[in-house]
Amino acid sequence: MATVSQSTLFYLSESASGITWEDAVDLARHARSRNLAEGITGVLVFDGTTFVQFVNGPEKATSDLLARLRFDPRHRLLDVFSKPPGAGLPHFDAWGLTLLQPLPGASLAAIRGLDWSTAFARLAAALPEGSIMAT
Ligand SMILES: Cc1cc2nc3c(=O)[nH]c(=O)nc-3n(C[C@H](O)[C@H](O)[C@H](O)COP(=O)(O)O)c2cc1C
Repeated sequence: MATVSQSTLFYLSESASGITWEDAVDLARHARSRNLAEGITGVLVFDGTTFVQFVNGPEKATSDLLARLRFDPRHRLLDVFSKPPGAGLPHFDAWGLTLLQPLPGASLAAIRGLDWSTAFARLAAALPEGSIMAT
């Protein structure tokens, strides 16, 4: 049986002005069904001004998603973290996309520009315990 090579996309972006939590809920609803159809799972975190998204899926599906994300006017200034060899991959339950809110006072914007592992650790610390785990 042919195996499909999997890849992970981890990025941060700034939401366009006027994007609300309700907009994020709508966006995630649409994205969830599309991701399920394409074998993608992931989480989207939104604090009102910054999005952080982590998805796993077939290589082609995740690179096509990144191409669509780059042209989506609902956010800008994408900072894609590059995965170092051997980094533990996060594990998600088999949901197409889970929308999460960070803990009160946590700033997602502070993750911009960090390396993958530090950004992942900061993100995990900004979420309710056990929301994301490295495998
Ligand atoms: C922060 C953010 C996260 C998104 N996440 C996803 C996603 O996980 N999957 C997806 O298909 N689209 C996602 N989108 C939407 C895509 O940019 C694009 O609008 C959508 O995939 C187009 O789908 P359609 O051709 O079915 O309308 C996201 C958009 C934003 C702004």
